[in-house]
Amino acid sequence: MIHSRIVGTGSYLPARVVTNDDLAKRLDTSDEWIRERTGIRQRHIAEESQASSDLALEASRRALEAAGVSAAELDMIVVATSTPDFVFPSTACLLQAKLGAKNGAAFDVQAVCSGFVYALATADAFIRNGNAKKALIVGAEVFSRILDWNDRATCVLFGDGAGAVVLVAGDRPGVHASVLRADGSQAGILSVPGNVCGGKIVGSPFLQMQGGQVFKYAVKVLDEVARETLAAASMKVEDVDWLIPHQANVRILEATAKKLGLAREKLVVTVDRHGNTSAASVPLALDELVRAGNIKAGHRVMLQGVGGGFTWGASLVTM
Ligand code: ACO
Repeated sequence: MIHSRIVGTGSYLPARVVTNDDLAKRLDTSDEWIRERTGIRQRHIAEESQASSDLALEASRRALEAAGVSAAELDMIVVATSTPDFVFPSTACLLQAKLGAKNGAAFDVQAVCSGFVYALATADAFIRNGNAKKALIVGAEVFSRILDWNDRATCVLFGDGAGAVVLVAGDRPGVHASVLRADGSQAGILSVPGNVCGGKIVGSPFLQMQGGQVFKYAVKVLDEVARETLAAASMKVEDVDWLIPHQANVRILEATAKKLGLAREKLVVTVDRHGNTSAASVPLALDELVRAGNIKAGHRVMLQGVGGGFTWGASLVTM
């Protein structure tokens, strides 16, 4: 039986840091309000010249180096992003060219903040059924481009960044189980309801959110999908060494860990320093803990996404 396994991680954060105090200089907000409601202290913002594929490239190089895999060996590149460089070609194709890789498939997955988990589950399925052997999975976002920087209710929440993993075929798991879910009837609670038509933007190019509803929905579905994934893997909450939920808001993360009955020290929190980086948040957090030596080979990690669509999902992996 073929399994898939993460053999390398990498991440990249743009150099420019914007603190809550920086935002409070030009918006009617405060460090205290943002920290108390969200746990966020700062976020990284990309330079105008940096696109998602540039952030993805840095994260991918680091993941490939950690894995000891060359770009030429990759037979699949999947990029999760809601902030692609272009309408087309996909950011995955642009990344493939930047990496100098040519062999295999490259495509994007659009599931907003659940994108990385959707992309990981997709690549895992390709590897398990024998259609790929070495895959690069990336979450990369420049959410700063789709924020109304005068809307204090949304712009304080997000940041830019990228994270990547290399997933390879092997004879032991690896990825034990993944569960993906969506409820399109909730599309309106979190969206960028615009598009390009005839050379003009039709609708809104900015993120809109009903924060209270997103909060409640996120806590409910993160708990449910964690339990479904554990059941699919025939494991218990006690078998999980680390929980990495999508980094949206520290209160959502803590409520999820509490509902699951998971010890607080097993909950990974990076939202305080990264803000919400959408599809990049989970692989960024994973890489940070791997490089810090906290997540070690053999540890079991639950990765969770939740976001616009509405979409959500989880993967349980042994590193
Ligand atoms: N600074 C100061 N005041 C603010 C700010 C701000 N940045 N933003 C909103 N306020 C004000 C509001 O105007 C409102 O004022 P009013 O009472 O005079 O009308 C007051 O603060 C309370 O606003 P609420 O929206 O009710 O605040 P709430 O406690 O719900 O917190 C928040 C808002 C942080 C967005 C919360 O709803 C939340 O975290 N929701 C989850 C959404 C989330 O994390 N989204 C990220 C993307 S979704 C995802 O990734 C899954």
